[in-house]
Amino acid sequence: MTPVRESVFTLEATPIKFGPGAVDDAGWELQRLGVSRALLVTDPGIPHVDRVLASLHCEVVVFDASSVEPTLESLQAAADFALDAGVDGFVSLGGGSAIDTAKVANLIVSHPAPVMDYVNAPIGGGRAPDGPLRPHLAIPTTCGTGSEATTVAVLDIPERRVKTGISHRYLRPSQAIVDPDLARTLPAEVVAATGLDVVCHAAESFLARPYTSRERPATPSDRPPYQGSNPVADVWSAKALEYGGKYLRRAVADADDVEARGAMMLAASMAGVGFGSAGVHIPHACAYPIAGLKHEYDPPGYPGRFIPHGISVIVTAPAAFGFTYDSSPERHDHVTALLGGPIEDLMRDLGVPSLRELGYSEDDIPELVEGALAQQRLLAVAPCEVTADDLAGILRASM
Ligand SMILES: NC(=O)c1ccc[n+]([C@@H]2O[C@H](COP(=O)([O-])OP(=O)(O)OC[C@H]3O[C@@H](n4cnc5c(N)ncnc54)[C@H](O)[C@@H]3O)[C@@H](O)[C@H]2O)c1
Ligand SMILES: [Fe+2]
Repeated sequence: MTPVRESVFTLEATPIKFGPGAVDDAGWELQRLGVSRALLVTDPGIPHVDRVLASLHCEVVVFDASSVEPTLESLQAAADFALDAGVDGFVSLGGGSAIDTAKVANLIVSHPAPVMDYVNAPIGGGRAPDGPLRPHLAIPTTCGTGSEATTVAVLDIPERRVKTGISHRYLRPSQAIVDPDLARTLPAEVVAATGLDVVCHAAESFLARPYTSRERPATPSDRPPYQGSNPVADVWSAKALEYGGKYLRRAVADADDVEARGAMMLAASMAGVGFGSAGVHIPHACAYPIAGLKHEYDPPGYPGRFIPHGISVIVTAPAAFGFTYDSSPERHDHVTALLGGPIEDLMRDLGVPSLRELGYSEDDIPELVEGALAQQRLLAVAPCEVTADDLAGILRASM
């Protein structure tokens, strides 16, 4: 019997409140969500905690020890803290790191179990939450992940040398407040890395295989969160690409360019809606082992030695899109047109290091390929089939 093709797609999005000064509505939003005792999750590098606290009317417990690029251990520590705090809602203030930490703490408070039970299989137990979580107000402070709009939390498991995630629609925050004022304090390097992540989210989702090319699942619950490109996700991804091309260089160059930094924050949320529906594929699949295997790179503007997520993603993007070009030349050309030029130009202007400069050599390719192949959830929405040899070629070209 020939398999039945998928004919249905869904688009869900976090409600977003956007604009300079919007953060002062945090208390109003939390009250509307019915929260009486909140856990505010943030990391020590975020300078806006007092401003948010001043707007909150309910009881608040602060957890300001969220890790930059969270690990299984740091997420478990945050979840344990949240369980003890006895809260009925969450506020996250920070980049993807703090927002993802709040997502996981909320998951464990709402449906207690060890974090590993929920981590994507085969690395973790792949368990789905039994029901909705507590309210979560997400306040992003980077121009980056779009985590406020997605169903994913990303984590590093250093002992196993892998990055993986927890993904379920219940993880999506209840409300986001995106305030360009908060981006003024971002180091230029963080704007560059997080903005390049946005460009990749948008490009990869725009280039994902069409949702109609998938096999129709047996039941609605089997429908994957990453469905493939569809007309509504395309709208969000295209706008994010246009903003990336128009505003990212300006946003990196000038901290006081609130228009450009605000546009990149909005682009992050828009790309989050797009990739939350369509999905990301080859560059993100390669990014997990690139960020997980070696921690030698000392990124300017960030604390500690690690490869910032956006850098780990963008480094293979030109080779990956070169590899997929023939599957949909018009769509690839459209991405370049929306960006206002080749993605390589943007990378050159922002000084992106090569894979070799991140500490890798040809000897590492087999291990990187193995790590990327483990991300089948992502590779499944690539616009064409990708073998181990193809991945090796993409990684070699990115050296
Ligand atoms: N959940 C998702 O959908 C998703 C998608 C992609 C990536 N991620 C994950 O998100 C994390 C990366 O998040 P990110 O790129 O947003 O950055 P981040 O949260 O890791 O923050 C980067 C650095 O910037 C600092 N910072 C943040 N906001 C600041 C501000 N306004 N002023 C001054 N300093 C500030 C932080 O303290 C930190 O040192 C990674 O763990 C990545 O894997 C999640
Ligand atoms: Fe990303």
